[in-house]
Amino acid sequence: MSLCIIYHSETGNTRSVAERLAAATGGDLVEVKDRAGYSKIGMYLKGIPRALMRHRADIDPAAIDVSGYDTIVFGSPVWAGNPTPAINAAIEALRGVEGKGAIVFCTSRGSPQETLEKIKAMLVERGADVRGCVSLTQSDVQNAAAIESLADLIRRSEKEFLSAQ
Ligand SMILES: Cc1cc2nc3c(=O)[nH]c(=O)nc-3n(C[C@H](O)[C@H](O)[C@H](O)COP(=O)(O)O)c2cc1C
Repeated sequence: MSLCIIYHSETGNTRSVAERLAAATGGDLVEVKDRAGYSKIGMYLKGIPRALMRHRADIDPAAIDVSGYDTIVFGSPVWAGNPTPAINAAIEALRGVEGKGAIVFCTSRGSPQETLEKIKAMLVERGADVRGCVSLTQSDVQNAAAIESLADLIRRSEKEFLSAQ
């Protein structure tokens, strides 16, 4: 079984979830960095309009090869009810994603609005088989049971995906 956890995080919540998922599942971590290098204010002044426009950021790494993995996990912060520009770009940057199982999660202060549906649609367009979408609030991020339940979903979906091959 091989799992790749791809995430973007500016203020640490999504990173914290991704790191705990990696520890719980043995997955490899890929952190996507937005080259915009936002300040705290810049995230709101520049990041929100870009997220609303579904902008694709300049990111590091510029290409993400997942051909060696069975399952991928995508984690995004919610910005103005949308995935971040770095996540939009990361999905575009995937190589070898066709036919892979995928699980999506997002972290937000309140409602994720349509964030999960938008990420799912982009991944499906790239040929991934999206098997679950989970929204975590900032209090869920502190909650070990919420993270374990997401880790369990990932493990189950990886097993189901492999037994269907
Ligand atoms: C620019 C910006 C826009 C945000 N927009 C929303 C939003 O529309 N809804 C929401 O519930 N939280 C919103 N938040 C809160 C973040 O989604 C939340 O703090 C998230 O966990 C941040 O993830 P990170 O720490 O991994 O960067 C926003 C935060 C920022 C910086």
